[in-house]
Amino acid sequence: MTIGVLHPGEMGAAVGAALRAGGQTVIWASSGRSEATSGRAEQAGLHDAGTLEELGRRSDVILSVCPPHAAAEVAQGFDRFPGIYVDANAVAPATVRGIANVVGRCVDGGIVGPPPRRRGTTRLYLSGADARPVADLFADTIVDARVVSEDIGAASAVKMTYAAWTKGTSALLLALRAVARAEGVEDALLDEWGWSLPELPERSIAAARSALGKGWRWVGEMEEIAETFAAVGLPDDFHRAAAEVYRRSPHTDDPGAAAALERVLSALLVDSPVRAKGGTA
Ligand SMILES: NC(=O)c1ccc[n+]([C@@H]2O[C@H](COP(=O)([O-])OP(=O)(O)OC[C@H]3O[C@@H](n4cnc5c(N)ncnc54)[C@H](OP(=O)(O)O)[C@@H]3O)[C@@H](O)[C@H]2O)c1
Repeated sequence: MTIGVLHPGEMGAAVGAALRAGGQTVIWASSGRSEATSGRAEQAGLHDAGTLEELGRRSDVILSVCPPHAAAEVAQGFDRFPGIYVDANAVAPATVRGIANVVGRCVDGGIVGPPPRRRGTTRLYLSGADARPVADLFADTIVDARVVSEDIGAASAVKMTYAAWTKGTSALLLALRAVARAEGVEDALLDEWGWSLPELPERSIAAARSALGKGWRWVGEMEEIAETFAAVGLPDDFHRAAAEVYRRSPHTDDPGAAAALERVLSALLVDSPVRAKGGTA
């Protein structure tokens, strides 16, 4: 089998490397991509097909692993692709159903966990009529592929509800830290957390680091989650607000940098009508 990866980002490159190690041929298309993507593809040992057209011609299966806001547009180029198109992005069930209407044979996917480097960390949820043969491609890999159902949208619903909690609560933590700072009660809040919720100070710092590194990509993901909630008649405002928190976060390629929380809270409060009253980050 030849599998085309769109595109070798952090996750796509790692999943591609896992497929290669499992005995599959994995290709990518360098046309229009950045040096960072080329570097990751090279390191993962993926073959360069050059253009998207050539990638489409040579692939039996295409695996789309790109930022959620780009997923639908990326699929547009594969309306005549005869193989199986797997959309493994963090998008709403309705978005992947739209993609299924564009590409011929669609499998819905949702990835939970970090870019896989060893067994047991990363799950690929799959759904759709062709989900089983796609799961079989991962049989001898470190990625745990799980078929959820035959319905397009089901795998994405797993991803959306999972990330609604993880990334949604991270955004909430950052926002409430900013409020506490603006109101001059951050020290009192930290004191209370020390007694009753001791994990939250560390979690705030981790949330800030993630927001600095990946917040730009999570804006789209939060909006997809909001769409997922709205589609079943639930309030979508939680994740619209989370999207706004990530939109306001600055971006850096060095999210481990010191003072991550300081940077994010300052950015969140930059237009605040209340002058921050100080506190401890
Ligand atoms: N990283 C994780 O821990 C993680 C965990 C679970 C799920 N995922 C899922 O994996 C997907 C990708 O995440 P990632 O971490 O691999 O992201 P990433 O490292 O930022 O990589 C994104 C890739 O997509 C390409 N890209 C960026 N903008 C694009 C656009 N507008 N159109 C087409 N391609 C574009 C980038 O190429 P250029 O830079 O060359 O443009 C890059 O190769 C997301 O849907 C995410 O939800 C990631």
